[in-house]
Amino acid sequence: MDPKDLNVTRGKLIHQGKANNVYETDHDEYLELEASDRISAGNGAKTDVISGKGVANNTISKAIFTKLDELGVKNHYVCPGSNECSKIVLKTEPILLEVIGRYFATGSYLKRYPETPDMMPFVPMFIEFTEKDDARNDPPILAEDVVQQGILDGFELDKIQKATRQIGEALKDFFAQCGGKLIDFKVEFGRLPDGTIILIDEISPDTCRILDANTGDVLDKDRFRKDMGNIAEAYTEMMNRVNNMDQ
Ligand code: TMP
Repeated sequence: MDPKDLNVTRGKLIHQGKANNVYETDHDEYLELEASDRISAGNGAKTDVISGKGVANNTISKAIFTKLDELGVKNHYVCPGSNECSKIVLKTEPILLEVIGRYFATGSYLKRYPETPDMMPFVPMFIEFTEKDDARNDPPILAEDVVQQGILDGFELDKIQKATRQIGEALKDFFAQCGGKLIDFKVEFGRLPDGTIILIDEISPDTCRILDANTGDVLDKDRFRKDMGNIAEAYTEMMNRVNNMDQ
């Protein structure tokens, strides 16, 4: 859909997250989500600004949400926004969970279970939940407790687990088509006013680990987390690959 057809106008800034800005619009059902150049790790312990990251993340996110929609995964992406870093999205009530899909063991999994061989494959993909709660450092939560704590009912939990598997397979294919290997990813969900649960937030090198399939080069936020340098180059490289895939 073309934003001109929707005739959506950006309103005031209503939320500034660690990496994204959220604006209201003159339509009650839409928000404008803008990817900034801000980057952070360790729940905000380490921050910086990476020129070009906002454009890259927004470009990659839009392409992934469009692909997922084609595959029947309902998500909040509506159309491009008022600038190249932004998109119009459906307004939802966010579910305060981060859903992590792991194809290989790395990151916080290895910190919790240091005896696990680095990059040990998970077959099938392993799903974990963390609570979205900065004050408590986004603690891990068992699937059973997601229901016990009233965050989701059992039916919704099942739907989100199935959707996350479908999203994982779609992301694996998507990144393989641009010469990448998906290691793990994080997704979030929200409820529309009628209660329907849809995929929200962003899917980008900030929220996925992706290696170059041939060289093993790191093409995601681990370059920042691990002080590897060439951060802007990695995001731009992923964006260029996604843009070339479209042709
Ligand atoms: P982790 O190994 O640090 O738990 O990260 C797993 C995946 O989730 C990785 O692709 C990065 C992503 N992620 C986020 O997008 N946001 C977060 O706050 C965290 C902790 C991880």
